[in-house]
Amino acid sequence: MAKRKPANTESRVRTTVKAPMTTGNSLAALRSAAKGCRNCELWKDATQTVFGEGPARARVLVVGEQPGNEEDLQGRPFVGSAGKLFDKAIAELGLDRSAMYVTNAVKHFRFEMRGKFRLHRSPASAHVRACHAWLEGELSRIKPDIVVCLGAIAAKAVFGSGFGLMRERGTWQELPGGARGFATVHPSWVLRQRDSAGREQAYRDFVADLELLVESRS
Ligand code: URA
Repeated sequence: MAKRKPANTESRVRTTVKAPMTTGNSLAALRSAAKGCRNCELWKDATQTVFGEGPARARVLVVGEQPGNEEDLQGRPFVGSAGKLFDKAIAELGLDRSAMYVTNAVKHFRFEMRGKFRLHRSPASAHVRACHAWLEGELSRIKPDIVVCLGAIAAKAVFGSGFGLMRERGTWQELPGGARGFATVHPSWVLRQRDSAGREQAYRDFVADLELLVESRS
């Protein structure tokens, strides 16, 4: 019997990436154009494009990896367990997520079927490249002062492929145009730590990195 290809195989990624086609220059126009993105194959199995959300004039822009199962179903970034942990961390620091623009490096859910479950698969670098024009479009329209990257995939998408997360987490990076940013671990990584002591330590370190946001306000 012929082997069935797993969903979202990299072999189907297009090598030429189309710049976003928009009917206007606004964030709303970009969001609307992203709904029909076909720059890679991930749209075929995903429910919908999960574009960023938050104020168009946000001072802080947060970048994650890609939508998960819950985000894919709801069409909103960081609404599942990773998002809840992020919300908890920023609430602990007295920060307000609704003032931030939250998005992802890749805007479709990449997964494989395991029985009836859709299991997260990390996006390949080709998927990040295919999606990069959308992230650039969000950055150039919102013009945030600060970009926060959650996890290595987001950090490499924003700071470049040479960025080392464990070496450079929690340190300010200069960005073109006068913005600056920093990276920390992905909240899913915190949740994946083996035992409760490991999770607690990873969470405390995550909050400590995010404290740069508090310092940047003073
Ligand atoms: N993980 C991400 O990186 N982004 C989301 O939106 C949800 C989970």
